[in-house]
Amino acid sequence: MTHKIPLRERLIFALDVADATQARAWIARLGDSVQHYKLGLELLAGGEYFDLLAELKSAGKRVFADLKLHDIPNTVAGAVRGMARHRADLLTLHAYPAAIAAAAAHAGATRLLAVTVLTSMGPAELADSGVAGAVADVVVRRARAAIAAGAAGLVCSGLEAGRLREALGGGPLIVCPGIRATPGGDDQQRTVDVAGAFANGADYIVVGRPIRQSEDPRAAAEAIQQTIRGCFQD
Ligand code: C5P
Repeated sequence: MTHKIPLRERLIFALDVADATQARAWIARLGDSVQHYKLGLELLAGGEYFDLLAELKSAGKRVFADLKLHDIPNTVAGAVRGMARHRADLLTLHAYPAAIAAAAAHAGATRLLAVTVLTSMGPAELADSGVAGAVADVVVRRARAAIAAGAAGLVCSGLEAGRLREALGGGPLIVCPGIRATPGGDDQQRTVDVAGAFANGADYIVVGRPIRQSEDPRAAAEAIQQTIRGCFQD
């Protein structure tokens, strides 16, 4: 069981471009094929991040602020308090329960999503970072702690979404990046396709390069929207 979310908001397009001029060109180009935008670290570094956020909100779009906050609890809480004023719909922070617990009361209307294990990480990289256990087990362990600490949802690969639904039920929002038609691709290791992510219980998918690098990005986004409609037909 997933949340009642307008179907066309379930696709989040990753606006991973270097500056606001390019971002605005993409927003114009994609038109109504995309209703939900991810504004991440690349755009933050490019400047005008909060102008873009406000423009998207006043155009009636949804905004996923993927800033992946990670710091001591007091600092994360302060950043979340500041971000709440900008009214992004979703905001990410890493899945460290003490920071989430400190920040949760300051999020206002913005829903906090805990990043479990990046979809670019495979078993070897996770082990090298000093974390013991299979990737899916680490995702479940971190997710459980993040939700208990007050996160509204989770970011994980579509490969683990089913395990999270089994462990945590329908309550948490589940957002899945690492969407690819065929396994792997670019720097992503833990990938599934669009239908696979929703079949496993995702509420939203985040898609960047498969749309940005296609010959006709608007048609690629519309094709994904159509696949999503198919996933939710009774
Ligand atoms: O281009 P691609 O479809 O791989 O983009 C995926 C997007 O999702 C990127 O913007 C990336 O920052 C984001 N993301 C991710 N893995 C996470 C969290 C966010 O790939 N765990």
